[in-house]
Amino acid sequence: MTPDFFETAAAALPDLCREPPPDCGMILGSGWSKALAVDTPLLRLPYSEIPGLGASTVVGHAGEFLLFDRHGLRIAAFMGRRHWYEGAGWGPVVMPVELLRRLGTRNLLITNAAGSITPSFTPGDLMIIRDHINTVGISPLIGPVMPGWGPRFPDQSQIYSPALIDLLRKAAHDTGATLGEGVYAFTSGPVYETPAEIRAYAGMGADAVGMSTVPEATVANAAGLRTAGLSCITNMAAGISGPNLSHEGVIEQTRKTLPLMAALLDAFLMHLAQ
Ligand code: HPA
Repeated sequence: MTPDFFETAAAALPDLCREPPPDCGMILGSGWSKALAVDTPLLRLPYSEIPGLGASTVVGHAGEFLLFDRHGLRIAAFMGRRHWYEGAGWGPVVMPVELLRRLGTRNLLITNAAGSITPSFTPGDLMIIRDHINTVGISPLIGPVMPGWGPRFPDQSQIYSPALIDLLRKAAHDTGATLGEGVYAFTSGPVYETPAEIRAYAGMGADAVGMSTVPEATVANAAGLRTAGLSCITNMAAGISGPNLSHEGVIEQTRKTLPLMAALLDAFLMHLAQ
């Protein structure tokens, strides 16, 4: 990961993306991209046309960059993400954040699918990420300090913006959704966790678990973007309900939650615009 790596990718984005800078960036995880019905985007770019980003190898991740207007805001959305477990290094994982930063974006919403550790959630619930735990112990910030990514030792006391969390709460109120709030634990994947790991994460204070978001949020926080995170609870984590965790089950649950996710994203953007 070098500045040149990102420079080449940024050069693939037309000037239309910069003028004016997007008001809000989005990185949408498993199933979430369908929650943004954009009929007439200003720009639609497959990931294969952004050097270094590459197509996601995971079913359910669209792999498309969209620029569009909603509620008077300009939105830059990465539909589908790359994961650490794909083995291509941090570059493609955090590239959406770096491209958004280079475009001058101030706000970022990251979504994912997650397993619930706490019994108080059920599949189909949405959870605002209040904080996270990086169980992997590795970070995309390891290596030379990248220009624009803040100090060598970034403060992580408040990664998820209280102001954006407030907008999510307002959006939930509008849509009648009950939004949970909690701590998200990041694992490397691609394996699901063992029941013993889930008990350990519960003891650490985690409410939900997943294989994404934390790398992007870590870079976004260091780079000074206002960041929010939203999980779709797709299953109870290992050992909490019966066995048989599967990616197909995760995708199926996000499909069922789609109307709620779509209404919430729209209401969030409406409140951001006010
Ligand atoms: N564990 C890890 N990642 C996930 C899960 C889970 O239970 N559900 C959806 N993504």
